[in-house]
Amino acid sequence: MARRLRTIRELDVTERRVLVRVDYNVPLEGGRVVDDTRVRETLPTLQWLLERRAKVILCSHLGRPRGQVREELRLAPVAEVLERLVGRPVQYVRDIVGPDARAMAERLKPGELGLLENLRFDPREEADDPEFARALADLAERYVNDAFGAAHRAHASVVGVAKLLPSAAGLLLEREVQALERVLRSTERPFVLVLGGAKISDKIGVIENLLPRADAVLLGGGMANTFLKARGYELGRSLVETEKIGEAQRLLDLAEQRGVRVELPVDVVVAPSLDAPQERQVVPVERVPPDRAIYDIGPETVKRFSDVIRTAALLVWNGPMGVYEIEEFREGTRGVAEAVAACPGFTLVGGGDSAAALKELGLADRVGHLSTGGGATLEYLEGRELPGIAVLMEEEA
Ligand code: 3PG
Repeated sequence: MARRLRTIRELDVTERRVLVRVDYNVPLEGGRVVDDTRVRETLPTLQWLLERRAKVILCSHLGRPRGQVREELRLAPVAEVLERLVGRPVQYVRDIVGPDARAMAERLKPGELGLLENLRFDPREEADDPEFARALADLAERYVNDAFGAAHRAHASVVGVAKLLPSAAGLLLEREVQALERVLRSTERPFVLVLGGAKISDKIGVIENLLPRADAVLLGGGMANTFLKARGYELGRSLVETEKIGEAQRLLDLAEQRGVRVELPVDVVVAPSLDAPQERQVVPVERVPPDRAIYDIGPETVKRFSDVIRTAALLVWNGPMGVYEIEEFREGTRGVAEAVAACPGFTLVGGGDSAAALKELGLADRVGHLSTGGGATLEYLEGRELPGIAVLMEEEA
């Protein structure tokens, strides 16, 4: 039997208290929000609810405070950003399910917004504690999940509460699922997978799940080192996940059996250490000096990757090609971002650094879908069912 995602359009929200789980886990620097994308992306859902005169109670986690109150992880800076973006006052309370939170929920009038404190200050959130879920549910009459980035977490505000109230997906969650489903179900070819980032561990599942349908897999970032090592290259002081070399070899063999083209870096940017980026040097991958480590892909690799990217009808990109935090090691990621933006096919991009590179270059609106998820996007692409989405699915009539 086919299953479908219940969406906000099916929920009667008029003049009702609606608890909205969002993922406002945004980067902060010195107490200020440095990237408000995750807040902006929830605006269509908030506007939809406010137009219907709902009383909106927002809740989110921020960081990993592990059940303790941490002053620097309060949601106050997020409340400020939200007020500015939504153009209305936000009743922020430093409480989650206690008396201040309940009073705020009671006080809200139709068309008003409130924001609870960081859910993870309470250890019961991550434990999916039934009493905590009940207390959250008691604040409202309806539940909407728009927190795609947290949909892979079986936490009380994601799963427990959804079972206790009439519940549905918000517009962002719906859009994310539609884009990911397009990638997983589509027969558009050529299908190109571009993966980077530090470690291969969190990408193995994605490669395995998508390999049967991919035409080409382009690998960069720190994770490519382990594949290069499997192919026998000497990589100097580069980071290699030694215990994963066998796994990398297995994936390379699998790709070969299936006739999938795998591109690894042919040239790389090396330096003595991350503290000496000014000593950067481009070398062919077979000539990495013993006292140097790889921190980015080189220009020839960018060109080769771009040539493949240009041909894609369907493309997924996740993870930077180098150490994106350091200016001297950003060129590879920038080059790939430019190629992905110019790709005529449907492109889905996930992961913080890939998104940051596109934004920095002003190219964010040139991709088919820029996912707000990190781990959630990867788990979805692995073919796993995310608990926060599963709980909102129902059998088609
Ligand atoms: C994310 O940033 O990927 C989400 O907000 C989930 O955060 P978490 O990995 O701390 O659960």
